[in-house]
Amino acid sequence: MNDLYALIRSRHSARVPFDPEAPVSREDLVKILEAASWAPTAHNMQNFEVIVVDDPALLRSLGELKSGLSLDFIRENFQQLSFSEEELKRKKTGILASMFPPSWRDPSLFSKLEEAAFSEGPSFMSQTIRHSPTILVVTYDTRKRAPASEGDILGFISLGCVLQTMWLVSESLGIGFQVMSAFSSPAVEPEVRKILGFPNHEKIAFAVRLGYPLKESRPEIQRYLRVRRDLSEFAHLNRYGEGFPSVSGKS
Ligand SMILES: Cc1cc2nc3c(=O)[nH]c(=O)nc-3n(C[C@H](O)[C@H](O)[C@H](O)COP(=O)(O)O)c2cc1C
Repeated sequence: MNDLYALIRSRHSARVPFDPEAPVSREDLVKILEAASWAPTAHNMQNFEVIVVDDPALLRSLGELKSGLSLDFIRENFQQLSFSEEELKRKKTGILASMFPPSWRDPSLFSKLEEAAFSEGPSFMSQTIRHSPTILVVTYDTRKRAPASEGDILGFISLGCVLQTMWLVSESLGIGFQVMSAFSSPAVEPEVRKILGFPNHEKIAFAVRLGYPLKESRPEIQRYLRVRRDLSEFAHLNRYGEGFPSVSGKS
């Protein structure tokens, strides 16, 4: 149990460049994929497919896609940002602004940013993919809905279980893991579909870049501040609003 808890605590988003010369071994990929197959899914629908991309030409094509960044995303992202470590420690949710490019932190540049997302020039995707030797694109079958699950909510929860299972196994193997939501945006998904050839009934749930962080970026990962709410801020005992007592008796 202690080992499992330690693994859960050390799992993190590796938003750093990976060693482009060190693809994840097929043996480790099998471990990650087999673990995914044992994730719980609503009604055991197993509503997912995983496309493993390690072909350099395909990775290049994905990296050349325009991100299709929307003004809505940029604005909502801005509202969640903390501009100092103190602010993030106080809020305990959201992300540090320094994780994002400077233009994402300055509202006066937002409209230019959206134009750039669709124009020529260095692609946002290639920045995100940053030398990734292996990418997983996880799709879900829109026809495999759990019975009477409105809006396929149970299917989406199931995909979250698949994601966490793969993430923990990767962490246990020392493999860096970063989710890339941009792949599932309406502007990008059709392009990814063309490159990887998956059928229309499959939609992208999420994509992940996997690899080994370059030696020089490992301290960057250790320095990056990760925050969580205290138990007393989200756990309720019997009735909503009744604080869950901590072990020491404080709520
Ligand atoms: C469904 C989902 C989508 C996410 N999308 C992204 C993403 O597009 N880019 C990214 O860098 N991190 C993404 N993340 C990672 C979260 O931002 C991250 O888990 C959170 O900030 C907590 O940090 P930690 O993973 O280091 O604990 C995503 C996570 C989940 C579960």
